[in-house]
Order: sequence, then C-alpha cells, then structure tokens
Amino acid sequence: MNTEKITSIAAPLVLALAVGAGALWPLQADASLALAPKYACVACHQPATKVVGPSWKDIGAKYGDGKGTAAQLAASIKAGSSGKWGPMPMPPQAQVPDADLQALAQWLLDGAK
Ligand code: HEC
Repeated sequence: MNTEKITSIAAPLVLALAVGAGALWPLQADASLALAPKYACVACHQPATKVVGPSWKDIGAKYGDGKGTAAQLAASIKAGSSGKWGPMPMPPQAQVPDADLQALAQWLLDGAK
C-alpha cells in the first residue's frame, strides 16, 4: 500500500473538514457580534464598560446562567427598558427584526463572546 499517496489525499481532506467545522461554529457568535453595530446598540453599550447603557458583560452577569431567558431579554430590548440599571432609559429598539433580537439576546446571555 502506498502510504504517501494516501497521506497526500487525506491531508487536504482533513484540512478541508477542519476549516469547514471551524467556519461553521464561530459563525453564530460572529453573526451576533455583527448585529450590535448593525443596529447601533454600540452607540450606548460597550463590551466591558458602562457608557449610556450597561456593558454587555454586566447584562450577561445579570441574566446569564439561567437568571433570565432570551425571550425575556429580547422583549425588553424591543420595548425599551427603564429603571432597571439607572436613571437613563433605553428607547424601544423596534427596528430590530425578531430573529435578530433573539440572536442578540442569546448572545448576551452567553456572555457576549
Ligand atoms: C440610546 C441608547 C441605547 C441604545 C441605542 C441601546 N440601548 Fe440597550 N440600554 C440602554 C440603557 C440606558 C439601558 C438601561 C435601561 C434600564 O435601566 O432599564 C439599556 C439596557 C439594555 C438591556 C438590559 C435590559 C433589561 O431588561 O435589563 C439590554 C439587553 C440592552 N440594553 C440591549 C440593547 C441592544 C441589543 C441594543 C441594540 C438593538 C440596545 N440595547 C440599544 C441604552 C441603549
């Protein structure tokens, strides 16, 4: 059996599989990461510092680990929020489609990684 030939066929195959799996997995997170700037959430929210609104990290800490659900958070983003974090209210983010709201909410629950 010619092992050299097998390796030369197998190597690109393994590489293609690894790249394929690698590309699929982070796609979800990247998609949510891209949504925050897309809907201008980043005008008021930063990853780890409170600006106008609480940081993504603080939101994750408050609602992650089963303390909140994505549906609850998505509803809060859509309708706006006030009095939970401080004197500054968040205006309703009604421009965001439900699927993207859900993705953003889940991304936040997962620690905005
Ligand atoms: C104009 C500034 C502003 C924009 C734009 C904004 N937020 Fe907020 N956000 C806030 C403020 C202020 C709060 C705190 C409100 C409160 O105290 O209840 C908040 C709170 C939140 C919360 C916590 C809600 C809760 O129930 O505790 C989430 C989640 C959130 N924002 C996500 C988003 C997402 C996602 C977007 C983009 C679609 C966005 N925000 C856009 C200012 C903003």
